[in-house]
Amino acid sequence: MGVEPPFFEKYKAILQSSTEKEKFSTIEVFEEFELPLIDLSGLNLGPFERQKCIEQMDKAAREWGFFQIVNHGIPGGLLDRLKYEQMKVFHLPFDKKAEKKFLNLSAHSYRWGNPLATSLRNLSWSEALHISLKDISRMDECNKLRSTIQEYARKANLLAQKLAEHLAQILGIKPNYFQENCSPSSSSLRMNRYPPCPFSSRMFGIIPHTDTDFLTILSQDQVGGLQFNTDGRWFSVKPNPKALVINIGDLFQALSNGIYKSITHRVAANEEVERYSIAYFYCPTDEVVIQSCSEPALYRNFSFKEYKQQIERDVKATGDKVGLSRFLW
Ligand code: SIN
Ligand code: FE2
Repeated sequence: MGVEPPFFEKYKAILQSSTEKEKFSTIEVFEEFELPLIDLSGLNLGPFERQKCIEQMDKAAREWGFFQIVNHGIPGGLLDRLKYEQMKVFHLPFDKKAEKKFLNLSAHSYRWGNPLATSLRNLSWSEALHISLKDISRMDECNKLRSTIQEYARKANLLAQKLAEHLAQILGIKPNYFQENCSPSSSSLRMNRYPPCPFSSRMFGIIPHTDTDFLTILSQDQVGGLQFNTDGRWFSVKPNPKALVINIGDLFQALSNGIYKSITHRVAANEEVERYSIAYFYCPTDEVVIQSCSEPALYRNFSFKEYKQQIERDVKATGDKVGLSRFLW
């Protein structure tokens, strides 16, 4: 038994059939775009450098909803160890990965292939291990996967909090807002593997979406494939494995009253090489109510739980996430 989900074989067969083929237009190829690269060491220098660094983040969050950071305080060695453990687990034989209670995780924690996809249109050609960090102590220690995730989550949480607090300061949000409402156990981590896809011109590694969080910290390898949409145009992010990619999620867009942008993004499939990435989703606890920081508010107040439930209902009914537009006044 190989590592790839048999599910993919089924879709390969469907896609090879000429009638299905015709239904899929070829995905365009996009120009590579270098995201604004922000050196966070500026935060620890004098007041001028610090202010400049915060302004760069604010500008990127407003204009692109995306930026990348270096000197972020997460040791390269820790990221390497996490990736190593990630590759080990994803390379287990498929029947092992598909076992009930794999690593003692609940069934909705992993998506080997996408058995929930209702059609080729919402099929993501990827595998994912999605871990709610509040449940991580129940996870089996598989080699060093669990302890490495825990170590990473602590550091990622501190980084996310620092970034969010600097942005909050500009928006006039109280300084301890994020510390009070978010922690590693309210957040989650998703490890992605994108197996080579024989239909890369017609399938996505991950279908277009916005993130359901305050912000996401993404560690990606050198393969590339992340694309984002601005003003109807798709840009391909030039990969920089030394940097972490930060993107604004729906909750920050609502909190900032639309000033910061939760941008639609997707991952292109790759015909030849597999790709890995790790996303840390910085989220509040379920009962936290998201309220715009200025008036007149674009969105009505909603709790994080209410937001997730609405998404679930929409996905069930239409196959798509509707997202923030549901909460516009
Ligand atoms: C995601 O948007 O969920 C993953 C992005 C990536 O793998 O680059
Ligand atoms: Fe995403």
